[in-house]
Amino acid sequence: MRRSRQFPWLRRLLQEVSLSVNDLIWPVFIIEEHLTDQEIPAMPGVRRFSIDQLVHAAREAAALGIPCIAPFPFTASSHRTERGEESLNPNNLICCAIRAIKESVPNIGIMSDVALDIYTSHGHDGVVDGKRILNDQTVEILCQQAINQASAGADLIAPSDMMDGRIGAIRCELDRNGFQDVLIVSYAVKYASAFYSPFRNAVGSNDCLKGNKRTYQMNSANSDEALHEASLDLAEGADIIMVKPGMPCLDICWRLKDAFGMPTFAYQTSGEYAMIQAAACESWIDLDPVVMESLLAFKRAGCDAILTYFAPIAAQILREQTRQD
Ligand code: PBG
Repeated sequence: MRRSRQFPWLRRLLQEVSLSVNDLIWPVFIIEEHLTDQEIPAMPGVRRFSIDQLVHAAREAAALGIPCIAPFPFTASSHRTERGEESLNPNNLICCAIRAIKESVPNIGIMSDVALDIYTSHGHDGVVDGKRILNDQTVEILCQQAINQASAGADLIAPSDMMDGRIGAIRCELDRNGFQDVLIVSYAVKYASAFYSPFRNAVGSNDCLKGNKRTYQMNSANSDEALHEASLDLAEGADIIMVKPGMPCLDICWRLKDAFGMPTFAYQTSGEYAMIQAAACESWIDLDPVVMESLLAFKRAGCDAILTYFAPIAAQILREQTRQD
Protein backbone atom coordinates (compact mmCIF):
# COMPACT_ATOMS: atom_id res chain seq x y z
CA MET A 1 0.00 0.00 0.00
CA ARG A 2 2.81 2.43 0.76
CA ARG A 3 3.95 2.46 -2.89
CA SER A 4 1.00 4.73 -3.60
CA ARG A 5 1.78 7.18 -0.81
CA GLN A 6 5.38 8.04 -1.73
CA PHE A 7 5.15 11.55 -3.16
CA PRO A 8 2.92 14.57 -2.64
CA TRP A 9 1.93 14.61 -6.34
CA LEU A 10 1.01 10.93 -6.18
CA ARG A 11 -1.03 11.37 -3.05
CA ARG A 12 -2.83 14.25 -4.74
CA LEU A 13 -3.40 12.15 -7.85
CA LEU A 14 -4.94 9.31 -5.89
CA GLN A 15 -7.03 11.41 -3.54
CA GLU A 16 -10.64 10.19 -3.66
CA VAL A 17 -12.64 13.10 -2.27
CA SER A 18 -11.77 16.72 -1.75
CA LEU A 19 -13.17 19.76 -0.05
CA SER A 20 -13.75 22.97 -1.92
CA VAL A 21 -15.06 26.37 -0.90
CA ASN A 22 -18.18 25.46 -2.89
CA ASP A 23 -19.06 22.95 -0.16
CA LEU A 24 -19.38 25.53 2.62
CA ILE A 25 -22.39 27.24 4.16
CA TRP A 26 -21.65 29.77 6.88
CA PRO A 27 -24.10 30.01 9.83
CA VAL A 28 -23.94 33.45 11.45
CA PHE A 29 -25.69 35.15 14.36
CA ILE A 30 -27.31 38.56 14.23
CA ILE A 31 -28.41 40.93 16.96
CA GLU A 32 -30.24 44.26 17.17
CA GLU A 33 -27.82 47.15 16.79
CA HIS A 34 -28.62 48.69 20.20
CA LEU A 35 -28.04 45.52 22.23
CA THR A 36 -24.47 45.57 23.39
CA ASP A 37 -22.95 42.31 22.37
CA GLN A 38 -20.93 39.99 24.55
CA GLU A 39 -18.88 36.98 23.54
CA ILE A 40 -20.97 33.89 22.90
CA PRO A 41 -20.16 31.38 25.63
CA ALA A 42 -18.29 28.35 24.25
CA MET A 43 -17.93 29.83 20.76
CA PRO A 44 -14.60 31.67 20.74
CA GLY A 45 -14.12 33.54 17.48
CA VAL A 46 -17.87 33.79 16.77
CA ARG A 47 -19.68 37.08 17.38
CA ARG A 48 -23.22 38.23 16.84
CA PHE A 49 -23.30 40.76 14.03
CA SER A 50 -25.41 43.88 13.71
CA ILE A 51 -27.03 44.08 10.28
CA ASP A 52 -24.30 46.43 9.01
CA GLN A 53 -21.60 44.07 10.22
CA LEU A 54 -23.48 41.14 8.70
CA VAL A 55 -23.54 42.79 5.28
CA HIS A 56 -19.81 43.37 5.56
CA ALA A 57 -19.27 39.72 6.61
CA ALA A 58 -21.45 38.47 3.75
CA ARG A 59 -19.41 40.54 1.30
CA GLU A 60 -16.18 39.02 2.64
CA ALA A 61 -17.66 35.53 2.51
CA ALA A 62 -18.71 36.06 -1.11
CA ALA A 63 -15.24 37.34 -1.95
CA LEU A 64 -13.78 34.15 -0.46
CA GLY A 65 -16.14 32.16 -2.69
CA ILE A 66 -18.48 30.88 0.05
CA PRO A 67 -21.73 30.20 -1.85
CA CYS A 68 -24.25 30.55 0.96
CA ILE A 69 -24.81 32.13 4.36
CA ALA A 70 -27.31 31.08 7.07
CA PRO A 71 -28.22 33.93 9.44
CA PHE A 72 -29.81 33.19 12.85
CA PRO A 73 -31.28 36.03 14.94
CA PHE A 74 -30.78 36.54 18.66
CA THR A 75 -34.17 37.21 20.23
CA ALA A 76 -34.26 38.96 23.59
CA SER A 77 -36.73 37.59 26.15
CA SER A 78 -38.78 40.80 25.81
CA HIS A 79 -39.63 39.81 22.20
CA ARG A 80 -40.47 36.18 23.03
CA THR A 81 -44.05 34.99 23.43
CA GLU A 82 -45.93 31.71 23.94
CA ARG A 83 -46.60 31.32 20.21
CA GLY A 84 -43.53 33.13 18.88
CA GLU A 85 -45.44 35.89 17.05
CA GLU A 86 -42.20 37.79 16.33
CA SER A 87 -41.41 35.08 13.76
CA LEU A 88 -44.22 36.51 11.59
CA ASN A 89 -43.23 40.16 11.84
CA PRO A 90 -42.19 41.24 8.32
CA ASN A 91 -39.70 43.64 9.89
CA ASN A 92 -38.18 41.21 12.35
CA LEU A 93 -34.41 40.92 12.58
CA ILE A 94 -34.07 37.97 10.23
CA CYS A 95 -36.19 39.58 7.50
CA CYS A 96 -34.28 42.87 7.77
CA ALA A 97 -31.02 40.91 7.58
CA ILE A 98 -32.17 38.96 4.51
CA ARG A 99 -33.23 42.15 2.73
CA ALA A 100 -29.96 43.91 3.59
CA ILE A 101 -27.83 41.03 2.27
CA LYS A 102 -29.92 40.66 -0.88
CA GLU A 103 -29.57 44.34 -1.62
CA SER A 104 -25.83 44.62 -1.00
CA VAL A 105 -24.45 41.15 -1.75
CA PRO A 106 -26.82 39.66 -4.33
CA ASN A 107 -24.42 36.89 -5.37
CA ILE A 108 -24.49 34.99 -2.07
CA GLY A 109 -27.29 32.52 -1.29
CA ILE A 110 -29.33 32.88 1.89
CA MET A 111 -30.62 29.93 3.86
CA SER A 112 -33.06 30.81 6.59
CA ASP A 113 -34.21 28.73 9.52
CA VAL A 114 -37.88 28.01 10.06
CA ALA A 115 -38.76 27.00 13.64
CA LEU A 116 -40.29 28.75 16.62
CA ASP A 117 -37.65 28.17 19.31
CA ILE A 118 -35.86 31.40 18.50
CA TYR A 119 -39.08 33.31 19.21
CA THR A 120 -40.90 31.44 21.98
CA SER A 121 -40.84 32.26 25.68
CA HIS A 122 -40.44 28.53 26.50
CA GLY A 123 -37.70 27.87 23.92
CA HIS A 124 -39.56 25.04 22.18
CA ASP A 125 -39.83 24.73 18.41
CA GLY A 126 -43.59 24.65 18.49
CA VAL A 127 -46.76 25.77 20.22
CA VAL A 128 -47.03 24.26 23.69
CA ASP A 129 -50.06 22.95 25.53
CA GLY A 130 -48.92 21.97 28.99
CA LYS A 131 -46.10 19.58 28.25
CA ARG A 132 -47.26 18.73 24.73
CA ILE A 133 -45.89 20.36 21.59
CA LEU A 134 -48.86 20.76 19.26
CA ASN A 135 -47.97 19.53 15.79
CA ASP A 136 -50.58 20.88 13.39
CA GLN A 137 -51.03 24.27 15.06
CA THR A 138 -47.27 24.67 14.85
CA VAL A 139 -47.16 23.70 11.18
CA GLU A 140 -49.67 26.44 10.38
CA ILE A 141 -47.41 29.06 11.95
CA LEU A 142 -44.31 27.58 10.28
CA CYS A 143 -45.99 28.02 6.89
CA GLN A 144 -46.55 31.72 7.60
CA GLN A 145 -42.99 32.04 8.89
CA ALA A 146 -41.68 30.50 5.66
CA ILE A 147 -43.73 32.96 3.58
CA ASN A 148 -42.47 35.84 5.70
CA GLN A 149 -38.84 34.85 5.07
CA ALA A 150 -39.38 34.06 1.39
CA SER A 151 -41.03 37.47 0.94
CA ALA A 152 -37.89 39.06 2.41
CA GLY A 153 -35.81 37.23 -0.20
CA ALA A 154 -34.61 33.94 1.36
CA ASP A 155 -33.43 31.49 -1.31
CA LEU A 156 -33.48 28.35 0.82
CA ILE A 157 -36.09 27.75 3.48
CA ALA A 158 -34.75 25.40 6.12
CA PRO A 159 -37.30 24.00 8.58
CA SER A 160 -35.40 22.82 11.67
CA ASP A 161 -38.42 22.23 13.90
CA MET A 162 -39.04 18.49 13.33
CA MET A 163 -42.86 18.72 13.27
CA ASP A 164 -44.54 16.06 11.13
CA GLY A 165 -45.91 17.07 7.74
CA ARG A 166 -44.33 20.51 7.67
CA ILE A 167 -42.37 20.05 4.45
CA GLY A 168 -45.47 19.29 2.38
CA ALA A 169 -47.43 22.09 4.04
CA ILE A 170 -44.66 24.65 3.54
CA ARG A 171 -44.11 23.57 -0.11
CA CYS A 172 -47.79 24.01 -0.79
CA GLU A 173 -47.91 27.43 0.88
CA LEU A 174 -44.76 28.64 -0.92
CA ASP A 175 -46.21 27.58 -4.29
CA ARG A 176 -49.57 29.18 -3.54
CA ASN A 177 -47.83 32.48 -2.80
CA GLY A 178 -45.72 32.57 -5.94
CA PHE A 179 -42.51 31.22 -4.40
CA GLN A 180 -42.19 28.17 -6.66
CA ASP A 181 -38.48 28.84 -7.06
CA VAL A 182 -37.65 28.89 -3.36
CA LEU A 183 -35.96 25.66 -2.29
CA ILE A 184 -36.63 23.68 0.87
CA VAL A 185 -33.69 22.29 2.81
CA SER A 186 -35.21 19.94 5.31
CA TYR A 187 -33.51 19.28 8.60
CA ALA A 188 -34.78 15.78 7.88
CA VAL A 189 -32.69 13.98 10.45
CA LYS A 190 -32.20 16.10 13.52
CA TYR A 191 -31.34 14.34 16.72
CA ALA A 192 -32.21 15.49 20.23
CA SER A 193 -28.54 16.24 20.77
CA ALA A 194 -26.50 17.78 23.56
CA PHE A 195 -24.31 19.46 20.95
CA TYR A 196 -26.65 22.44 20.43
CA SER A 197 -26.20 24.30 23.72
CA PRO A 198 -23.71 26.98 22.55
CA PHE A 199 -26.14 27.78 19.70
CA ARG A 200 -29.01 28.13 22.16
CA ASN A 201 -26.94 30.64 24.10
CA ALA A 202 -26.14 32.49 20.90
CA VAL A 203 -29.81 32.97 19.98
CA GLY A 204 -31.02 33.56 23.54
CA SER A 205 -32.99 30.31 23.95
CA ASN A 206 -30.97 28.52 26.60
CA ASP A 207 -32.22 30.36 29.66
CA CYS A 208 -35.86 29.97 28.72
CA LEU A 209 -35.88 26.35 27.48
CA LYS A 210 -38.09 24.25 29.70
CA GLY A 211 -37.67 20.48 29.48
CA ASN A 212 -36.10 18.84 26.43
CA LYS A 213 -36.93 18.33 22.75
CA ARG A 214 -37.18 14.53 22.75
CA THR A 215 -40.82 14.34 21.66
CA TYR A 216 -39.95 15.89 18.30
CA GLN A 217 -36.20 15.61 17.70
CA MET A 218 -34.92 12.09 17.06
CA ASN A 219 -33.41 9.54 19.42
CA SER A 220 -29.65 9.38 18.73
CA ALA A 221 -29.81 5.60 18.91
CA ASN A 222 -31.88 5.33 15.73
CA SER A 223 -30.68 4.95 12.18
CA ASP A 224 -33.47 3.16 10.25
CA GLU A 225 -35.80 5.85 11.55
CA ALA A 226 -33.53 8.43 9.90
CA LEU A 227 -34.23 6.83 6.52
CA HIS A 228 -37.95 6.91 7.26
CA GLU A 229 -37.82 10.63 8.24
CA ALA A 230 -35.83 11.53 5.13
CA SER A 231 -38.08 9.51 2.81
CA LEU A 232 -41.16 11.34 4.10
CA ASP A 233 -39.54 14.76 3.68
CA LEU A 234 -38.44 13.91 0.15
CA ALA A 235 -41.91 12.65 -0.72
CA GLU A 236 -43.34 15.91 0.62
CA GLY A 237 -41.06 17.93 -1.66
CA ALA A 238 -37.77 18.63 0.14
CA ASP A 239 -35.09 19.58 -2.39
CA ILE A 240 -32.20 18.94 -0.04
CA ILE A 241 -31.98 16.87 3.14
CA MET A 242 -29.82 17.65 6.13
CA VAL A 243 -28.34 15.69 9.02
CA LYS A 244 -27.60 17.24 12.39
CA PRO A 245 -25.43 17.08 14.42
CA GLY A 246 -22.65 16.35 11.95
CA MET A 247 -19.56 14.56 13.19
CA PRO A 248 -21.45 12.14 15.47
CA CYS A 249 -23.71 11.23 12.51
CA LEU A 250 -21.42 10.55 9.55
CA ASP A 251 -22.92 7.06 9.31
CA ILE A 252 -26.34 8.64 8.83
CA CYS A 253 -25.04 10.99 6.13
CA TRP A 254 -23.66 7.97 4.32
CA ARG A 255 -26.87 5.96 4.65
CA LEU A 256 -29.02 8.82 3.34
CA LYS A 257 -26.76 9.51 0.39
CA ASP A 258 -26.57 5.81 -0.39
CA ALA A 259 -30.33 5.27 -0.10
CA PHE A 260 -31.64 8.37 -1.90
CA GLY A 261 -28.79 9.90 -3.90
CA MET A 262 -30.27 13.30 -3.10
CA PRO A 263 -28.40 16.50 -2.22
CA THR A 264 -27.37 15.90 1.39
CA PHE A 265 -26.04 18.51 3.80
CA ALA A 266 -24.64 18.14 7.30
CA TYR A 267 -24.53 20.67 10.11
CA GLN A 268 -21.29 20.78 12.06
CA THR A 269 -23.02 22.18 15.12
CA SER A 270 -22.04 24.70 17.73
CA GLY A 271 -20.98 22.00 20.19
CA GLU A 272 -18.69 20.45 17.59
CA TYR A 273 -17.20 23.87 16.92
CA ALA A 274 -16.77 24.38 20.68
CA MET A 275 -14.93 21.08 21.14
CA ILE A 276 -12.44 21.78 18.40
CA GLN A 277 -11.89 25.40 19.47
CA ALA A 278 -11.51 24.48 23.13
CA ALA A 279 -8.81 21.92 22.40
CA ALA A 280 -7.06 24.29 19.99
CA CYS A 281 -7.19 27.16 22.53
CA GLU A 282 -5.33 24.89 24.98
CA SER A 283 -2.83 24.02 22.21
CA TRP A 284 -3.88 20.39 22.61
CA ILE A 285 -4.58 20.15 18.89
CA ASP A 286 -3.64 22.22 15.87
CA LEU A 287 -6.74 24.15 14.75
CA ASP A 288 -6.31 24.42 10.97
CA PRO A 289 -5.54 20.78 10.11
CA VAL A 290 -8.21 19.53 12.51
CA VAL A 291 -10.80 21.80 10.92
CA MET A 292 -9.86 20.63 7.44
CA GLU A 293 -9.83 16.96 8.44
CA SER A 294 -13.23 17.28 10.10
CA LEU A 295 -14.72 18.91 6.98
CA LEU A 296 -13.14 16.41 4.60
CA ALA A 297 -14.74 13.61 6.63
CA PHE A 298 -18.17 15.00 5.69
CA LYS A 299 -17.25 14.76 2.03
CA ARG A 300 -16.07 11.18 2.48
CA ALA A 301 -19.40 10.42 4.16
CA GLY A 302 -21.20 11.59 1.01
CA CYS A 303 -22.25 15.11 1.98
CA ASP A 304 -22.61 17.74 -0.73
CA ALA A 305 -22.21 20.69 1.61
CA ILE A 306 -21.49 21.43 5.25
CA LEU A 307 -22.89 24.14 7.49
CA THR A 308 -19.92 25.13 9.60
CA TYR A 309 -18.93 28.06 11.78
CA PHE A 310 -15.42 27.40 10.45
CA ALA A 311 -16.47 28.36 6.89
CA PRO A 312 -14.39 31.57 6.64
CA ILE A 313 -11.33 29.89 8.20
CA ALA A 314 -11.67 26.88 5.91
CA ALA A 315 -12.19 29.10 2.85
CA GLN A 316 -9.06 31.05 3.71
CA ILE A 317 -7.03 27.85 4.14
CA LEU A 318 -8.33 26.46 0.84
CA ARG A 319 -7.38 29.71 -0.88
CA GLU A 320 -3.82 29.55 0.50
CA GLN A 321 -3.54 25.91 -0.55
CA THR A 322 -4.46 26.79 -4.13
CA ARG A 323 -1.84 29.50 -4.12
CA GLN A 324 0.82 27.04 -2.98
CA ASP A 325 -0.06 24.48 -5.69
C1 PBG B 1 -33.41 25.81 15.84
C2 PBG B 1 -32.02 25.32 15.60
C3 PBG B 1 -31.09 24.77 16.51
C4 PBG B 1 -29.89 24.63 15.80
C5 PBG B 1 -30.11 25.05 14.49
N1 PBG B 1 -31.45 25.47 14.37
C6 PBG B 1 -31.22 24.48 17.96
C7 PBG B 1 -32.15 23.46 18.44
O1 PBG B 1 -32.84 22.78 17.67
O2 PBG B 1 -32.27 23.33 19.67
C8 PBG B 1 -28.58 24.14 16.37
C9 PBG B 1 -27.34 24.59 15.63
C10 PBG B 1 -26.05 24.43 16.34
O3 PBG B 1 -25.96 23.85 17.45
O4 PBG B 1 -25.04 24.92 15.81
N2 PBG B 1 -34.40 24.86 15.83
